Amino acid sequence: MTTSVDLRDLRVRGDERGWLVPAEVGVDVPFEIRRAYWVFGTESGVRRGFHAHRACRQAAVCVRGGCTIMMDDGSGAYDVRLDSPSKLLGIPPMVWHEMYDFTPDCVLLVFAEFAYDESDYIRDRAEFDRLTEGL
Ligand code: TYD
Repeated sequence: MTTSVDLRDLRVRGDERGWLVPAEVGVDVPFEIRRAYWVFGTESGVRRGFHAHRACRQAAVCVRGGCTIMMDDGSGAYDVRLDSPSKLLGIPPMVWHEMYDFTPDCVLLVFAEFAYDESDYIRDRAEFDRLTEGL
């Protein structure tokens, strides 16, 4: 078995003026958004993330460039390439994730369900493995 992946195609609105992609709570994002953050300027050799969230749901989109997200709920890792401003990846709670292979221009935008709370993080892989064992 491997981790199941929620990768959604967002609606792309385009005309002669360019493109627009909406992300709407209840339509494209299945939780109330209380926080957004964006990651950029990460070099291609850098790997980041290395954690799971206990409760906070997140959804990520590369609004520019691309990166790969490895996700593992304990049943086996799955790699997703995010390389389009219209592909939204759900990152559920209790899924270990790591981001890598960033393009130099990558801007990774993340919507989060809750305010930043370090106690929601599991940053120790051994603890994550213990918590997901037998699930
Ligand atoms: P970190 O969790 O290390 O980033 P990544 O998961 O991409 O490896 O976060 C980097 C820093 O930013 C760290 O000091 C925590 C801080 N931070 C906030 O202050 N607010 C936030 O919403 C997030 C996600 C991180």
